[in-house]
Amino acid sequence: MTTPVNVTVTGAAGQIGYALLFRIASGAMLGPDTPVRLRLLEIPQAVKAAEGTAMELDDCAFPLLDGIDIHDDPAAGFAGTNVALLVGARPRGPGMERADLLEANGGIFGPQGRAINAGAADDVRVLVVGNPANTNALIAASNAPDVPKDRFTAMTRLDHNRALSQLARRADVPVSQVRRVTIWGNHSASQYPDVFRADVAGTPGARYADEDKLWLADDFVPTVAKRGAAIIEARGASSAASAANAAIDHVHDWVLGTPEGDWTSAGLWSTGEYGVPEGLVSSFPVTSSGGAWQVVEGLDLDAFSRERIAASVQELSEEREAVRALGLV
Ligand code: NAI
Repeated sequence: MTTPVNVTVTGAAGQIGYALLFRIASGAMLGPDTPVRLRLLEIPQAVKAAEGTAMELDDCAFPLLDGIDIHDDPAAGFAGTNVALLVGARPRGPGMERADLLEANGGIFGPQGRAINAGAADDVRVLVVGNPANTNALIAASNAPDVPKDRFTAMTRLDHNRALSQLARRADVPVSQVRRVTIWGNHSASQYPDVFRADVAGTPGARYADEDKLWLADDFVPTVAKRGAAIIEARGASSAASAANAAIDHVHDWVLGTPEGDWTSAGLWSTGEYGVPEGLVSSFPVTSSGGAWQVVEGLDLDAFSRERIAASVQELSEEREAVRALGLV
């Protein structure tokens, strides 16, 4: 039998954790031939709830699930881990300023980055889901100097999937016929979902954008960027199943590759692509092969897109300045 892959999930007792763990154990993330060993990392108060989830995982009798360990110590939780899904984060509380939020999350993602640096497997791949995801990924990566920076990623796949679905609806085609949309920038309301370079059942996405500028700026972009808030409003709880699904998609494509002729979106440590300052974790159009992401280069960006990308990247720069001022990176 193949050696099991160690997968650590932080925030395992939370909403996303509950939607995520069963799919990892079923083989949806790493494929039907790869056994997994799950490490659930939680804070001490939530360990009991994580134990309950582990009991349910046992009760599914997943053939690919090699074992489950539960930890409240990052050093143990990340020891030997191959895939780390950093979901647990500190949410913004009432009256909390952005600097307070960044500082609280620095207290989580700094130590987790150091634990990954000290003990994770050499091939470790990290996906940060917990918000503010891009800057939390920056903090974790900055605290893991021995791990290559391209192993730390932030999740914008949910935004990407939302953009695919909204564009398919607008064009009245099945979602499977929409390819090459891109999320640029930050996983926040400033993100820029880009249809200009998309392929919509053989029609260039730019045609929809050019035909109806109002749809683009007043409907599509805000619908995708504010979808999380709309779901909280409707459901009374934040998007958890779709977030878990996006995390599965992200790691699946990272490890097993993106389909020929298509690309997806992920927050990566910039090395200066498209003028994004080096060392910001920003979302780009990406493909994966051989287990590594590559930014899709050479896209010719129109003025509208350039302006929107610059605004979101500016927000990322400001977040980096704030965490630098706090000594977190
Ligand atoms: P939740 O509040 O249901 O669960 C969070 C869990 O994290 C809790 O069980 C908590 O005990 C745990 N936790 C907190 N600090 C921890 C630490 N230091 N180590 C380990 N575990 C810790 O939240 P939910 O709905 O599961 O969301 C998790 C995060 O994902 C939030 O930050 C949310 O904003 C973010 N999110 C990101 C999305 C994206 O597209 N990037 C989409 C949706 C949510």
